[in-house]
Amino acid sequence: MHKVAITGTGIFMPSEIITNAELVASFNDYAARQNGLHADEIEAGTREPMAMSSEEFIVKASGIERRYVMEKAGILDPETMHPRLPERGDDEISIMGEIAVDAAKKAMDEAGLTAADIDAVICAASNHERAYPAIAIEVQEALGIKGFAFDMNVACSSATFGIQAAADMIRSGSARAILMVNPEITSGHQEWRDRDCHFIFGDVCTAVVLQRLEDATSANIYEILSTRCLTEFSNNIRNNNGFLRRTREGHMEDRRDMQFRQEGRKVFKQVVPMVADMMLSHLADEGIEPSQLSRLWLHQANKGMNDLIGAKVMGRAPTREEQPNVLQEFANTSSAGSIIAFSRFSQDLPAGSLGVICSFGAGYSAGSVIVRKAD
Ligand SMILES: CC(C)(COP(=O)(O)OP(=O)(O)OC[C@H]1O[C@@H](n2cnc3c(N)ncnc32)[C@H](O)[C@@H]1OP(=O)(O)O)[C@@H](O)C(=O)NCCC(=O)NCCS
Repeated sequence: MHKVAITGTGIFMPSEIITNAELVASFNDYAARQNGLHADEIEAGTREPMAMSSEEFIVKASGIERRYVMEKAGILDPETMHPRLPERGDDEISIMGEIAVDAAKKAMDEAGLTAADIDAVICAASNHERAYPAIAIEVQEALGIKGFAFDMNVACSSATFGIQAAADMIRSGSARAILMVNPEITSGHQEWRDRDCHFIFGDVCTAVVLQRLEDATSANIYEILSTRCLTEFSNNIRNNNGFLRRTREGHMEDRRDMQFRQEGRKVFKQVVPMVADMMLSHLADEGIEPSQLSRLWLHQANKGMNDLIGAKVMGRAPTREEQPNVLQEFANTSSAGSIIAFSRFSQDLPAGSLGVICSFGAGYSAGSVIVRKAD
């Protein structure tokens, strides 16, 4: 069995940003237009008027201040309310493939590896642009990597599940080094017309290089000590836009349930204890006391959730350095969130420092990765 390490990470950030102020102005414009269109029904009491969104609510309820998006104009246009991304031909690289290649090159540079050193590519994300051929195989081809590649989806936990899959393969010898990418174009499945969730998501792509510890030459090496994955079925975060859509009556409708929807409050209440318990039992099984941890790189969905999970795990409120948040800048970037936090806030720790990368979300699903900074 080989020891495994994370030796490189990379982040692709779209060039366009939507602030809460811009988002709320556009949503409120849309809501006012809808209320105008349906003024008679609202007047007659047969329809509820759409309520307005507010910047104060968004920051207080989530901690989110802005988000990166692939295409801003369509999202903010009250007549459109979704990104407009031109369809690409079969001979062009897909959008997910393109942003994955960008993040992957940064991660491979940090690891000091070339395509010839990588044996496999995993594309772990909440949505894939098409069913097949796999986005991972397209990325593999674009980078000139030999070996094999596959896509996997465990919603917001995709990256930690991907790390476990990669680490297990490297540990057992089926690959020496693996590239995992997390292209998250969340703006495509976000429901921008729903006040309850229109502020939640942002677009980004992260990449992680994992390899045998004995081969690692990077300046920032984290040995993976242990991984754990957990799932429990829940309908509280759901999207019904599956491939059987056209087999059903009314499939052409733009139905609400075909975009992201959630029972946010229930998710909050159910997922916080699930994740805290999983992290604590994972640490206990590895003989690690929470007081030994220098850092928690948590999934970036909600600041309140992270504060509660951090306090339950550490037994006290962690400092901002111990539990860095990036969601004020990025919003919820699904599987990429904990990797952004790790990528941005892992260089400064001294050798021997222990930390946990943890993600959680739809499924429900949760993944925990205990790491130690190498000498
Ligand atoms: C989504 C979330 C931020 C909402 O925060 P919350 O505190 O639970 O807020 P609620 O949905 O209970 O709404 C509270 C009130 O604010 C209102 N509200 C909702 N969105 C609003 C908005 N954009 N602007 C103003 N008010 C809003 C609600 O209608 C509700 O009004 P009411 O009390 O009159 O019924 C929060 O529940 C959350 O982050 N949950 C976890 C989600 C998660 O991790 N999901 C994983 C995704 S992958």
